Amino acid sequence: MNKFTYQYPVKVHFGEQIAKSSLLAELDKYGKNILLAYGGGSVKRTGIYDEIISILREAGKTVTEFSGIMSNPTYKKVQEGVTLVRKNNIDFILAVGGGSVIDCCKIVSAQAKLDEDIWELEYSKYRLPTEFIPMGAVVTAFGTGAEQNCGAVITHEEKLLKSALFGAFYDFAILDVDYTMTMPLKQVISGAFDSLSHSMETYMGTPREVNLSDEINEATQRNIIRNIRATLKNPDDKKARSELIWAAALAENGMLKIGKTIDFQCHMIEHQLGAYTDCNHGQGLAVLHPVLYRHMIPQASKQFSRLAVEVWGINPDEKTEEDLANIFVDTLADFIKEIGLPTTFREMGITDIDCKAIANSTMLMNGCCKKLTVEEIEEILQECM
Ligand code: NZQ
Ligand code: ZN
Repeated sequence: MNKFTYQYPVKVHFGEQIAKSSLLAELDKYGKNILLAYGGGSVKRTGIYDEIISILREAGKTVTEFSGIMSNPTYKKVQEGVTLVRKNNIDFILAVGGGSVIDCCKIVSAQAKLDEDIWELEYSKYRLPTEFIPMGAVVTAFGTGAEQNCGAVITHEEKLLKSALFGAFYDFAILDVDYTMTMPLKQVISGAFDSLSHSMETYMGTPREVNLSDEINEATQRNIIRNIRATLKNPDDKKARSELIWAAALAENGMLKIGKTIDFQCHMIEHQLGAYTDCNHGQGLAVLHPVLYRHMIPQASKQFSRLAVEVWGINPDEKTEEDLANIFVDTLADFIKEIGLPTTFREMGITDIDCKAIANSTMLMNGCCKKLTVEEIEEILQECM
C-alpha cells in the first residue's frame, strides 16, 4: 500500500423515509438564506420539490431557487448560480438531484467566495480554492457518488472540455431510496454501471499487488453486479436499489482508493466524448470499457485475471493468466449487453464525431496499467463506433 492520510468530512444519512427528519435536523445549523438547486424538472414531477419546500418553510428559511441545472453541467450554469448566491446573500446551498446538480453546486460554492476565475485558478495557477459556502446534498439519482467527494465534472463549452474542478465537500448527504424510486430504469442501470466503472478504474491503479482496498473493491463490484440483476428482475426491489446507492457512495468516498494511485483513464476518454456529444456518462463508459480493456490485456492481465476469478466467479483451473484476462473482458462485454446498455456509439445515437479531436484533448493518466498514446485513444474511439 502507498502512504496515506485519510479524512472523510461528509456526514451521510442513509435509509428509507429519512429525508425529512434528517434534513430538518441539519438545517438548524445554518443561516436563513438558502439556495435550493435542482435540475430540469423531475423534482417537480415527483413531488420532491413540494416536500423540500415545505421542510424549508418549517425550518423558517428564505429560499432562492437555482433551477434548470442540466445533465453534464456547464461552466456557464455555474456562473449563473454564483450570481444568485452573491445577489441573495446565500448562507447555505441545498443541492437536490443527481451527479449533475451536485457537481454544479460544488463549484458554485467555491467560485462564490473567489475574486478570480476558478478554471484559471486550477488549470493555469495549479491552485485550489480554500473557502466555500456550506452545502448539503439530497440525492435523487444515484450512481456517480458525486455527493461523497469534492471533485466536480464541468463542461466548458467554449474550451470544448469536460474536466474536473475541485470545490467543496458537502457537509452532509441524504441518501433516501424513496427519493430515487422514480428514476427511469435506464438511468438506474447506467448510474450503477458508472459505480462499477469507478470500482474497476480504481482497481486498475497502482500498486498492482492486491491490498485490503482491492479486496473491499472486489466485494463492491460483486455487489453492484448482483444488485443490477436484481433491479432488472424487479425494479421495485428497494433492498437491491438501496445497496446500489451505498455501493455508489463507497466507490467514490475514497475508501477503495486508500493506498492506491488511481487510474480513471476510461473516465478521461468518456468525459471528452461528453464534451463533444453531451452523451449520458454511464452509457459512454459502457461502450468504452470493453474496447479499452482489450487494448490493455497484455499489461493488465494480472488484475484482469484476478477480477475474472474473484468478481465474475470464473473457474481458473487449466487456464493461463492471459486466458483469464481475455475471459474477463468477454464476460464484462456480455454483461453490458445483458443489462441493456449500449455496446457502440451508434446505439447511443452518436454517428459522427471527430475522434482525433477527442483523443487530442483527453487527459492521459500516469497510473494506468498501460500508458496510452493519443493515437491509441483515437483508435479506441473509432473501434467504439
Ligand atoms: O434534470 P432532471 O429533470 O432532475 O432529471 C434528471 C436527469 O435527466 C433525472 N433524475 C434525477 N433524479 C430523478 C430523475 N428522474 C426521475 N426521478 C428522479 N428521482 O436523471 C437524469 C440524470 O441526472 P444526472 O444528475 O445528469 O445524472 P448522474 O447522476 O448520472 O450525473 C452525471 C454527471 O455526473 C458526472 C458526470 O460526468 C455527469 O456530468 N460525474 C461526477 C462524478 C463525481 N463528481 O464524483 C463522478 C462520475 O464519474 C461522473 O463523471
Ligand atoms: Zn463516472
